Amino acid sequence: MTERFITDTLNSSATEFDVSLRPHRFQDFIGQSKVRERLELFVTAAREREDVLDHILLSGPPGLGKTTLAYILAEAMGVNLRVTSGPVIDKAGDLAGLLTNLERGDILFIDEIHRLHRSVEEYLYSAMEDFVIDIVIDQGPNARSVRLNLKQFTLIGATTRSGLLTAPLRSRFGLTNRLDYYKPEDLQSIIERSARILNVDVMPDGAHEIAARARGTPRIANNLLRWVRDYAQVKADNVITQDIAAQALAMLDIDEHGLDEMDKRILDTILNKFSGGPVGIGSLAVSVGEEAGTLEEVYEPYLIQEGYLKRTPQGRVATGLAHEKFGMKPGRGQDELF
Ligand SMILES: Nc1ncnc2c1ncn2[C@@H]1O[C@H](COP(=O)(O)OP(=O)(O)OP(=O)(O)O)[C@@H](O)[C@H]1O
Ligand SMILES: [Mg+2]
Repeated sequence: MTERFITDTLNSSATEFDVSLRPHRFQDFIGQSKVRERLELFVTAAREREDVLDHILLSGPPGLGKTTLAYILAEAMGVNLRVTSGPVIDKAGDLAGLLTNLERGDILFIDEIHRLHRSVEEYLYSAMEDFVIDIVIDQGPNARSVRLNLKQFTLIGATTRSGLLTAPLRSRFGLTNRLDYYKPEDLQSIIERSARILNVDVMPDGAHEIAARARGTPRIANNLLRWVRDYAQVKADNVITQDIAAQALAMLDIDEHGLDEMDKRILDTILNKFSGGPVGIGSLAVSVGEEAGTLEEVYEPYLIQEGYLKRTPQGRVATGLAHEKFGMKPGRGQDELF
């Protein structure tokens, strides 16, 4: 059950557990200070002018706080938030239904906005820009276009793959923010905050130990905390020390750098089956038995940030650090790739 802990955590959408730990105000949103300050300023300015917030795009790997920020923004503006997701809206009529129900200033949150159907996306352009939507009703000779006027609303789009967004859609956002992996000290604060909410006794070095293995991701940090809490309850009088955290996490096969089984399989495959690379993403995906898109959006960003992997025009290459981790030497000709 523990083998794919990180993979499962990242692929799951928000659970009840997530929701109970989700910060509701900017003050409780830890880390990402640039993004947070920018958004706070944006809210203050709009509120002072009694204006509606301009459209905002939030991008970044799963579990870093995109949905959380959308809720915080709605609360800070004192408006309603409607939540939907790109693939769920399959007709222009669905979109029109959502948009016509919005009051002035309300926020429509579209998760996975890169997965909006193209035909729906085109309707969004005029909605975002001019707050109108022209939809065709009826078919055949009776078909006619009807213009619906919308109240001025805010669209918040979230995406794990900003590269897949079309240029016309991207250009309609007034503010674009990219979330990056969290620093260990920020994750430690997040874990300490969650522990307070859950009434769990965690020592600073215990929180630090969990943070170091959380792959820069708050959702993983919270899930690891939950696991370690259970472990501490059964084995250690409910107190999470560094030792207890390390023992509990060792049971999940997460190593001290936060790499899980899939991360290791990816690196191992590049190193051993493809002599260190370069290897195309398609071949790599087949070899490790995971979809190319998931590799690109969930695994690679972290491996790249941590310096284990490089994307080159020829394909993916394992770096010197990856070789070192697996006790190997870079092959000839690979040195100049790093
Ligand atoms: N800055 C933060 N401070 C404290 N907790 C956070 C922070 N960011 C995220 N979290 C916690 O991590 C959980 C996951 O965050 P969230 O659901 O917002 O991620 P997401 O970016 O929307 O992920 P996905 O791409 O999978 O939808 C939240 O429920 C919250 O508990
Ligand atoms: Mg989300």
